[in-house]
Amino acid sequence: MATHPTTKTTAVRTATRTYRIAVIPGDGTGPEVIAEGRKVLEAVARQGGFRLDWRPYDLGGERYLKTNETLPASALKELRQVDAIYLGAIGHPDVKPGILEQGILLRLRFELDQYINLRPVKLYPGVWTPLRDKGPEHIDFVVVRENTEGLYAGVGGFLRKGTAEEVALQTSVNTRQGVERCIRFAFEYTARRAKAKKLTLCGKTNVLTFAHDLWQRVFNEVAAEYPGIQTDYTHVDACCMWMVKNPEWFDVIVTDNMFGDIITDLGAMIQGGMGIAAGGNLNPQGVSMFEPIGGSAPKYTGQRVINPLAAICAGGMMLESLGEAKAGKAVEQAVMAVTGTKLKSLAAGKMGYSTQEVGDLVVKSL
Ligand code: IPM
Ligand code: MN
Repeated sequence: MATHPTTKTTAVRTATRTYRIAVIPGDGTGPEVIAEGRKVLEAVARQGGFRLDWRPYDLGGERYLKTNETLPASALKELRQVDAIYLGAIGHPDVKPGILEQGILLRLRFELDQYINLRPVKLYPGVWTPLRDKGPEHIDFVVVRENTEGLYAGVGGFLRKGTAEEVALQTSVNTRQGVERCIRFAFEYTARRAKAKKLTLCGKTNVLTFAHDLWQRVFNEVAAEYPGIQTDYTHVDACCMWMVKNPEWFDVIVTDNMFGDIITDLGAMIQGGMGIAAGGNLNPQGVSMFEPIGGSAPKYTGQRVINPLAAICAGGMMLESLGEAKAGKAVEQAVMAVTGTKLKSLAAGKMGYSTQEVGDLVVKSL
């Protein structure tokens, strides 16, 4: 918590809970959705009696094109010292794919050791899902994705690149410590969550007989410490099948980085699409970062049609992680009121309201 004990108002200020939030609006529609998120968080902060001290950063494609910088050392140093990071979207049509993703998003996840990617998959009232005969009572689970290892670790290389005999290797890194801290987080999270108290490990033990053997052993070991939690296992391919056929079977799913990336896009679709899907990159002992899962949607930039609810929900998750659980819950409830009674669709351009109007509706529902 930051306070600035320099002015006469200090007495009042120090009595107020204040959180330093680095905000990275980023590219494309990122700034538009982040603006609505800030509007909602400001409103809920006033109600809850705490303050948000926003610190903007212009990281993203535009800056890269101008200066060739992705994440300067000075920015990274400052980001290590905030209470949380609020991120819009990273990705620019004029920048070669991979540069910004690796240079900003993945770099932040790794440097800040945000080893959990928490992605709720929850169908809110009034939201259309492509799953026939499924409603909010069926689609409500959370994916705990390992966020610093696996195929994302960047271990590998080329041999004889560009020749007919070329070899490309990309190694999945699975450390005992990395796997264990992720699985422990998932058990703790499942124990706290008010649902079925069931944790499903999603892997591919029939093929990844080294990496996922480690996952399975660690999972079984930690499970022994949580007799109150029902455990289950699914191969990742079958997991995709069950997410579509019987999503109600899931409470919490824990999985590795790559599989988590894939199944959470499927999850986003069954919860109504990228307009609503939010996630948190968590370092439970450090600085966490919250973001809408969708990308920068360049074609909608500046059109006032992009759905800000995912960014707003990410903001709610951020408040919860800062210890403002009541305010976080209030944001989610307000979003549910808006999806349940106002929006025609969650799709960009089809909401029946502009981006800014949707933000206003959420504020009014608080
Ligand atoms: C996500 C994204 C990122 C990932 C990309 C942009 C690097 O797809 O947050 O899921 O693969 O993790
Ligand atoms: Mn992804």
